[in-house]
Amino acid sequence: MADAFNDKRLTGSKTERYAELADEIAAVLDGEPNLTARMATVAAMLAATFEHYFWTGFYVVDPDKPRELVVGPYQGTLGCLRIAFGRGVCGTAAETGTVQLVPDVHAFPGHIACDSRSASEIVVPIFDASGALIAVFDVDSEAKAAFDEADVRGLATILRRVFAGEACGRA
Ligand code: SME
Repeated sequence: MADAFNDKRLTGSKTERYAELADEIAAVLDGEPNLTARMATVAAMLAATFEHYFWTGFYVVDPDKPRELVVGPYQGTLGCLRIAFGRGVCGTAAETGTVQLVPDVHAFPGHIACDSRSASEIVVPIFDASGALIAVFDVDSEAKAAFDEADVRGLATILRRVFAGEACGRA
């Protein structure tokens, strides 16, 4: 399964690639309940598919500190370990429970620069079946304004499909 995906190059429009990837991810994760394995697989497959992704990964709500995010599985350069709710782009997504689409991170108040090459960013909150926030998914790009509504829709669809019904900390 991994071999088949690693040999593959998805083509087509961004929207088409997100749709195709959603099916690929669901097929790879079929029957795998471990939350860390699911997050690592999503990060790896998305990072391998899109050239505009520079840092791709999860910040998970710390079960011991419910207003703090701790880094989870990711692909890219060394990320910050912890982010308080309300701080930076990820912390704002966690605090508000809303998608953050940021065309210029350097203009975002309180942006946390883990790697100064990051120029734009999208952060999508992830909820469990009860509606509780379990994590945020963060993608950074080296280009300004690299993300648009097609990324929001594509990511939201994939993340909802992969994490619906998950509960944080049980993996
Ligand atoms: N830029 C993020 C911090 C996380 S990293 O980019 C990996 C933020 O401001 O939330």
